[in-house]
Amino acid sequence: MAIKRVGIVGAGIMGSGVAEVAAKAGIEVVLRSRAQSTADAMVAGLEKSLAKQVERGKLDDAERGAVLGRVRAVTDLGELADCDLVLESIVEDLAAKKHLFNELDRICADRAILATNTSTLPVIEMAMETGRPDRVCGVHFFNPAPMMALVEIVRAITTSDETIDETTAFATTCGKNPVQVKDQAGFIVNALLFPYLNNAAKLYDAGVATRDDIDAAMKGGCNFPMGPLELLDLVGLDTSLAILEALYAEFKDPNYAAAPVLRRMVSAERLGRKTSLGFYEYKR
Ligand SMILES: NC(=O)c1ccc[n+]([C@@H]2O[C@H](COP(=O)([O-])OP(=O)(O)OC[C@H]3O[C@@H](n4cnc5c(N)ncnc54)[C@H](O)[C@@H]3O)[C@@H](O)[C@H]2O)c1
Repeated sequence: MAIKRVGIVGAGIMGSGVAEVAAKAGIEVVLRSRAQSTADAMVAGLEKSLAKQVERGKLDDAERGAVLGRVRAVTDLGELADCDLVLESIVEDLAAKKHLFNELDRICADRAILATNTSTLPVIEMAMETGRPDRVCGVHFFNPAPMMALVEIVRAITTSDETIDETTAFATTCGKNPVQVKDQAGFIVNALLFPYLNNAAKLYDAGVATRDDIDAAMKGGCNFPMGPLELLDLVGLDTSLAILEALYAEFKDPNYAAAPVLRRMVSAERLGRKTSLGFYEYKR
């Protein structure tokens, strides 16, 4: 089954980004946010992003209109009933995601694939909240979704080959390079990336070097496009902490034990770019 209509739940950083990617790929998008104000802000953000692409000559005006016409922002979960694939991109919290899968299972057509954009959480736990664990998998986009080429397709032990094939085809239609990975915390990228980011926060906290020098060192010394502290701000410190906690819960590896400074910054609501303050300060 080709995916022609996608539902996205959660209009945060990732939900908005994936909505743009899918709509640009010609897929109809129903984006569900709990609050109308967030749904409206997402549409305004999409309009702004597309207008910039027109200004830069990357998109023509007719395409811009067509992309916007394919996105519908809603607050009622029931509007996702006709979607071929629903991708949840809500907060990285297993209880919230399990509750949502239970609701989606009741609302969505039997043929629909229910997918999670989780960075680390066990996909099987979400699958077992539904009556269709063979139609549940992970479809893990990267941030910012319109720019990053990779999608990890995550196979839970219950996921069918058909579900993997259909979601892999969806990622390809979206212009992404899918890789397949089994349902183990952190999948490929975050299992490798997060010990590095966490250790950068520990170096910073220990005063081994300044924020700017840590970031400059990894950009200049390893040719990385961003420093680790900048990247933590981009991901969001709340999401980063949740990712580390899920990795630590699974492996009990001290490299995954969150740097205390991350926990303190989350308590202080210094979440990075999304709150305009993290390791760096950002203009609103
Ligand atoms: N930030 C990243 O770099 C990144 C990259 C890949 C995947 N992810 C994953 O994508 C998901 C979303 O992350 P994000 O960065 O977009 O977060 P975000 O904080 O920007 O957005 C989360 C959204 O979830 C909503 N939400 C919170 N609790 C909810 C609930 N109980 N029910 C419904 N909606 C709820 C919030 O209102 C918000 O709109 C997470 O699972 C995260 O691990 C994040």
